[in-house]
Amino acid sequence: MVILITGGCGFIGSNFIRVILQAREDVEVINVDKLTYAGNLANLLDVKGHFSTRYRFIKGDIADKDFVKEVFEKFDPDWIVHFAAESHVDRSILEPEDFIRTNIYGTYNLLEFSRMSWPLEDSRSLAKKRFLQISTDEVYGSLGETGLFTEKSPYDPSSPYSASKAASDHLAKAYFRTYALPVIITNSSNNYGPYQFPEKLIPLTITNARKGVELPVYGDGKNVRDWLFVEDHCSALLCVLDKGIPGECYNIGGHCEKENIEVVHTICDLLDERLGRTEGRPRRDLIKFVTDRPGHDRRYAIDPSKIKKLGWQPRVSFEEGIRTTIEWLLENTPWVENILNGTYRDYYKKQYGESVNGHP
Ligand code: NAD
Ligand code: TYD
Repeated sequence: MVILITGGCGFIGSNFIRVILQAREDVEVINVDKLTYAGNLANLLDVKGHFSTRYRFIKGDIADKDFVKEVFEKFDPDWIVHFAAESHVDRSILEPEDFIRTNIYGTYNLLEFSRMSWPLEDSRSLAKKRFLQISTDEVYGSLGETGLFTEKSPYDPSSPYSASKAASDHLAKAYFRTYALPVIITNSSNNYGPYQFPEKLIPLTITNARKGVELPVYGDGKNVRDWLFVEDHCSALLCVLDKGIPGECYNIGGHCEKENIEVVHTICDLLDERLGRTEGRPRRDLIKFVTDRPGHDRRYAIDPSKIKKLGWQPRVSFEEGIRTTIEWLLENTPWVENILNGTYRDYYKKQYGESVNGHP
């Protein structure tokens, strides 16, 4: 079984590769990643060592048609697990173009080459194929003070990021309806955990609070996110790959709604407890309320009943997950420092040289 994983050098993709290689001895993983600023080969150093016979990395761009064609011709994948995306809302507000290119056009390329290479007329062979489109709850826009997103909630995206993900979800659905491509879509809430790039709220706050520098909180800090530990997201994806029905969508969330300010307070207090105060002052003093993000969605919250019916449930509480994340970042100082000083970008040349760049 050959699984093509896109964006496997990012946060969730790298966690997922580790999980699936451990869970399934019958799979071989081809990880295709462009290594944008968010892609980091250091996320997979252990995987490269332990699973060298079943794991292969190829640097390449899913928006490059020739590259994607070559990958499909060479590896003939059974499953596509599609993580690759531009993923940060603030960047999408400043420079949306890469979001359109990768998230929409890149997804189109993968759908199109799946359609051309898979046996759409032969239902027995097709039954073994899967195209898993990894998406976000942000496609549904913002909730008011009550209610939950279900799979039937209308799409109503607010940012260029969420609009590009919504577009790619619509394309994926259209490929199921039009061509019977066995697509499944998952819409997950905000993830956190090891290997998350330190631009997102939780790793950014831990990194800054540790150093004793300012902690920017947007607006009044009362926006709500529904937090999910990344390993719980990965187990949900395995569950959907095994038991999910083509053409269906599954919302993934851990019933863990928190205001941003509560998350930041928790991190400050845990770091004070773990490292002592910074210059005698509690880390909460570092919080600075800053101008709000334009189009900032007020509240996200997921109703995960549908995926729970497949037998999945989250196992890691926020209290446990946030402590694990803090410990991981404290233990992996070089990982963070290499990102902050930019040297993580050199791993590719060190590990692979220039010659294999872009060629499977
Ligand atoms: P990430 O930004 O950490 O990683 C994205 C990866 O995709 C990087 O390794 C990057 O190099 C790669 N990539 C970007 N453009 C590419 C291209 N053109 N070709 C090939 N590779 C490319 O993102 P993440 O947080 O791991 O998110 C993964 C997926 O999960 C995304 O599709 C995102 O929309 C979705 N998602 C994320 C969250 C979250 O909280 N992080 C929640 C729900 C859904
Ligand atoms: P983020 O981690 O960027 O995820 P998303 O925008 O996809 O939900 O942000 C999580 C929440 O934290 C969001 O409401 C914006 C807010 N936020 C801050 O208040 N300060 C920050 O420095 C960042 C990065 C985010």
